Amino acid sequence: MRKYIVAGNWKMNTTVPQGVELAKAVVEKAKELPANVELVVAPPFTHLVSVAEALKGSKVALSAQNCADKEKGAYTGEVAVDMLVSAGCTYTILGHSERRQYYGETDAKLVDKVRLALAAGLKVILCVGENLDEREAGRHFDVVKEQTENVLFHFTAEEMASIVIAYEPVWAIGTGKTATAAQAEEIHACIRNVIEGKFGKKVADDLTILYGGSCKPSNAKELFAEPDIDGGLIGGAALKAEDFIAIAASF
Ligand code: 13P
Repeated sequence: MRKYIVAGNWKMNTTVPQGVELAKAVVEKAKELPANVELVVAPPFTHLVSVAEALKGSKVALSAQNCADKEKGAYTGEVAVDMLVSAGCTYTILGHSERRQYYGETDAKLVDKVRLALAAGLKVILCVGENLDEREAGRHFDVVKEQTENVLFHFTAEEMASIVIAYEPVWAIGTGKTATAAQAEEIHACIRNVIEGKFGKKVADDLTILYGGSCKPSNAKELFAEPDIDGGLIGGAALKAEDFIAIAASF
């Protein structure tokens, strides 16, 4: 069965007390939501333990925004998958375009990270998406296809059950520009097709594919109405509990 998910990527925002307050507000407002949507919040590393505490007893899941590509040891400044699990995470986002763009994240490194995350029992939200130049050159389908294949074709159909893909067109992130529902749908359908070609129809049908890029309460309904858009990975609008929950209520 395909799951519907709305995940909030807080990026490098909020202090620990602000994050705890935001998490508590999300938990409170989430009580009004029907049970068909899974909520996930992804605060910065420093917040994870405190936010896990605030989420206790709720249905809101905790995600990291990244993890190390090594298991443990002398890697100053890195955070290992076991640490994330022990802090209360059940998910990690991987391959966000900001990590690819500013921190040299490569598909090869992502294969290692996904492998470690799955082995530790984490679910992965793997981000893919083209930048503006690639879209204007008409390469958007190819770019998304390549990113998906380069990382996920190293895994098995069974492992795919713990993977969520987020399509995030880089030109729509934090810009206020949203892909139209039709633009997003055609890429989501293409991703599902790529997955079906490799892993079969059941894995493709069960796969959750999220849209990210200036998704907000005013456009979520139209996006989520598309057959291959199964929720959202939300940046800016996830920093306000009211907006985040309004997006989740758009299903
Ligand atoms: P915005 O919703 O702020 O455009 O960010 C999207 C995003 O990058 C989520 O990971």
